[in-house]
Amino acid sequence: MATRGPVRVAVLGCGVVGTEVVRLLVQQAEDLAARVGAPLELVGVAVRDTSTPRGAAVDPELLTTDAEGLVDRADVVVEVMGGVEPARALILRAIERGAAVVTANKELLGKDGPTLYAAADAAGTDLYFEAAVAGAIPIVRPVRESLAGDRITRVLGIVNGTTNYVLDQMATSGQGLQEAVRQAQELGFAEADPTADVEGYDAAAKAAILASLAFHTRVSAADVHREGIMNLTADDVARAATTGHVLKLLAIAERSGDGVVVRVHPALLPQWHPLASVRGSFNAVFVEAEAAGELMFYGRGAGGTPTASAVLGDVVTVARNKVIGGKGPIESRYAELPVRGVAEAVTRYQVELRVRDLPGVLAQVWQVVADHGVSIETVRQSRAEVYGDHADLLVVTHAATDEALSATVADLQDLPVVVKILSVLRVEGV
Ligand code: NDP
Ligand code: HSE
Repeated sequence: MATRGPVRVAVLGCGVVGTEVVRLLVQQAEDLAARVGAPLELVGVAVRDTSTPRGAAVDPELLTTDAEGLVDRADVVVEVMGGVEPARALILRAIERGAAVVTANKELLGKDGPTLYAAADAAGTDLYFEAAVAGAIPIVRPVRESLAGDRITRVLGIVNGTTNYVLDQMATSGQGLQEAVRQAQELGFAEADPTADVEGYDAAAKAAILASLAFHTRVSAADVHREGIMNLTADDVARAATTGHVLKLLAIAERSGDGVVVRVHPALLPQWHPLASVRGSFNAVFVEAEAAGELMFYGRGAGGTPTASAVLGDVVTVARNKVIGGKGPIESRYAELPVRGVAEAVTRYQVELRVRDLPGVLAQVWQVVADHGVSIETVRQSRAEVYGDHADLLVVTHAATDEALSATVADLQDLPVVVKILSVLRVEGV
């Protein structure tokens, strides 16, 4: 049934993203009305503290702390408050009332998306979330709709702007990790608690959303192998450049045998790889599909205005559905592929070892690697800077399972000629 008159829009949250959503709703009202086929009426904006200044575009009269009451007055609810509760309860309330929901909340979708998708399906209403993955970049709709006729084999992405900014700053200006994180917070793209960014939780939630869509299988953030950037040193970042690589925090979702593996961890990418040139807080997602081949989606993955663009795109779609009738796609999980652990991922390792500088050491290292069925691609030896009788080996392996590679590193650690494992990094994109 078509909605008559204006489509009533409630916005939950008026922070970095919400302020820009409200500004664009107000400033582009005429264009949005033409695209929707009816005016969008902003009925209120829920916040915790109505006395906080919100900028010129936000009418203070619209601010309320009664989020539930606001939800009950809306045809479209835009959730940009973040966190799990009360966001989940408010979204479910909106859905149960038949309102369409637009959310940017990857944390909630990564933890409990299926509950929300099922509720929206049961209520016959829309739940859209383009802004939840990679900010302004259209990636949810291309994976969910444009590639629905293809078979996606791999998704490789830089989906966290904060960590990309931090690693880029460390590589280009020699800035320390903590200082770069502080800057990312000031610039508005770090999460309220930046632990979510630097420990990889934010990227893991996005990886789970992308994997679910790409493989028609339920994947939650808890299924994603996750390593953050906190253990990376300035040396790791600097050394990457000397071997023709850049260090990135990657989200990888791929078919592996009869299942899928989803992982988030720092990795070395060759400098020629398209993702290697993604700088600052920009994001990019590289999709490999059987028929389409390689596709890359690039743009601003964080920040108020870029994220608001993705939110508004969804608002127009769900509001138009209200006006003309009909609804968008529901959750697709028919494939139900098993989600495997990182041990089954096929990757390559770069291992830096400090060894005793004695005859036969290389042969011993070689033997341990071979015992695990792993093959070495390159070895570079240099004299250890501090100790004259030690040498540093930089070993890069050929592809093998993560299980075989990590077992190799564990056994190398136990070799008497190995003084110390200096670093272990995966190499991707080859
Ligand atoms: P902010 O912390 O800047 O804003 C959150 C807003 O929600 C604030 O206005 C806050 O009110 C309000 N709020 C929080 N809890 C409640 C509550 N219980 N009741 C009422 N209002 C509440 O967050 P962001 O704008 O940065 O992020 C919003 C969402 O968008 C998150 O899910 C985030 O992950 C996602 N996102 C953010 C991006 C970014 O670049 N910032 C990019 C992509 C997605 P008050 O101001 O009064 O405290
Ligand atoms: N904190 C997130 C980031 C915001 O840095 O990418 C966008 O989701």
